[in-house]
Parts: sequence; C-alpha cells; structure tokens
Amino acid sequence: MKTLKTKGILFLSLAISSLIIQSCGGVPEDTSISAPSDKAFAVAEVLTLIAEENDITRTLYTKGIVGAGKKQGLKFDEDWQDDEIEAGPLPALFLRGISSDIRKSDVPLGLYLGSDFPINASNKFQGKQAELFEKIKSTEKPQHFYEEDQKLYTSMFADLAVAAPCVNCHNDHKNTTKTDWKLGDVMGATTWQYPSDSLSVKEAIGVINAYRNGTKAIYNAYLEEIAGFKIDSTKPQIGDKWPSKGFYLPTAEVFIDSVRQLASYKSLELLLGSKSVASN
Ligand code: HEC
Repeated sequence: MKTLKTKGILFLSLAISSLIIQSCGGVPEDTSISAPSDKAFAVAEVLTLIAEENDITRTLYTKGIVGAGKKQGLKFDEDWQDDEIEAGPLPALFLRGISSDIRKSDVPLGLYLGSDFPINASNKFQGKQAELFEKIKSTEKPQHFYEEDQKLYTSMFADLAVAAPCVNCHNDHKNTTKTDWKLGDVMGATTWQYPSDSLSVKEAIGVINAYRNGTKAIYNAYLEEIAGFKIDSTKPQIGDKWPSKGFYLPTAEVFIDSVRQLASYKSLELLLGSKSVASN
C-alpha cells in the first residue's frame, strides 16, 4: 500500500513539474500543450476552479484566523489600515485585497463580492448580475454568462454564511441593510470575470498564480500592519502555528500552503484532464 501511495505521489509531482515546465516554455519542441493557440479550458471551468480555491481561502481566513484569532484577543476591523487602529482585515476586505492585487497583475481576471443587502452600498449588485443573483439565492447554483456591457465572460458563485461570525457581524453592523441573516444563508455572491471564452494551460496557471499571489499580498499586508503595532504584547508570534493553538499567526507561506493542500488536488485534476483535451 505504502509503495503504491509513494508511487502515486511521485507520479503526481512529476505530472505537475512537467506541466509547469511545458507551460513556462521550457520544452519548446513540444507544442501540444504550451502553444498559445491551444485553448484547453472553457472559461467557466477555470473560474469554477478558482472560485473553489477562493472558498477554501475565505473559510480558512474566516475560521482559522478571524474566528480563532478573536478568541486570542486579535482584532479585525474595516478600518484596519488606519494608523490608529491596530487590527487585521475583515474577510470581505481580505477578499478585496486579493482582488486589487490581481488587478495590478497582467492577468485579466476580475473578482468582486456583492449582495442584494450589502453593508457597503457599493457592493450592491446591479443589472444582469442582480437578476442572476435572484436565481443563485433560490438554487445556490453558479451562473455563467456573457456580460454584454463589459464584454466579459462572467461566473457568479453563492457566498454562504459558513460561520457564526459572518451572521453576527452583519446583523449587528451599524450600516447593515438586513438584520436577520442566519447560518447557511446565501449572503452574497463572488463574481469572476475574464475577457475570453477559453484559456490555454499557461493562461489557466496564470489565473491560479495571480489568485495565490493576491492572497499572499493581502496576508503579508496584514503581517506588516501587525509589525507596526505599538505595544509588543499585542503582537502575536508569527511562525508555523495557528491562533487555535495560542497567541500565534501562521506566516504567509504556512497559510498559503494550507490552502494549496486543500485545493491542489482539484487544480491538478483539471490540468491533467486538459492533457487529453489538448492532444485530441
Ligand atoms: C467582523 C465583521 C464581519 C465578518 C466576520 C464578516 N463580514 Fe462580511 N462584511 C463586513 C463588512 C464591514 C463589509 C463591507 C466591507 C466593504 O466596505 O466593502 C462586508 C461585506 C460583505 C459582503 C459584500 C456585501 C456587503 O455586505 O457589503 C458579503 C457578501 C459578505 N460580507 C459576506 C460575509 C460572509 C459570508 C462572511 C463569513 C464568511 C462575512 N461576511 C464575515 C463585515 C463582516
């Protein structure tokens, strides 16, 4: 059993490295995977994959950092970047941090978190997205469509109240437009956009990396904020431990590694699946 498992892991690692090498142009003779014209994935497939990784990141941050951290005395605030406020980003602002970092990259991927009863009025869905959000609320199923006005392929995914802090904070917030959110409610949706209907393996990897770099950037911005806290006793120890174990925070690498471990198998399946699509 053990050798089978080891072989499996070895095979998977080889498969990943070869995909990475090929998609980075390391094997120029072999154009079956890396040719720019080789559109291996439908855009909805890639946006679904990245939305799943985002769910993992968001839940890990909300439960593992915000939920557990609050019990250790860490604070989270919408004005977390103000000098006088010693706090970390709320989950929605963590997501916005990822989204603005992606916008700065050269990957044309858009990410937006909206709702029909938002705390922040600028997060209210408009037009076609508002219409399709009604469907998402009743079915909890994603919606994939072409947004004519912006000329963007768009996928929307339900954003669920997965943890008690989601519900409590929103119900009690001074700017809330709804006070009876319950656990499990569809509180909003993440909207993802991309300008073309299909992606090559290289472009798909680009999307995954842009998202992960965004996570790293906002998480590091949070750690930098902590470094600036005035009183040393309010700074958690940063290393390989999580707040569930005490007054600790994981480093960006430890945080991203956990996301990667939870998400990679699906990413790999999609990329491996593409090999047969690409060579057909
Ligand atoms: C401690 C407070 C707090 C927690 C916890 C929290 N939120 Fe929010 N959330 C906010 C605030 C404040 C905003 C508005 C941020 C902004 O200015 O865009 C927001 C924004 C949102 C939005 C965009 C629409 C809107 O209300 O502006 C959604 C959807 C959302 N949160 C869902 C969730 C979910 C789901 C969770 C749990 C996984 C969660 N929130 C956890 C405070 C919180």
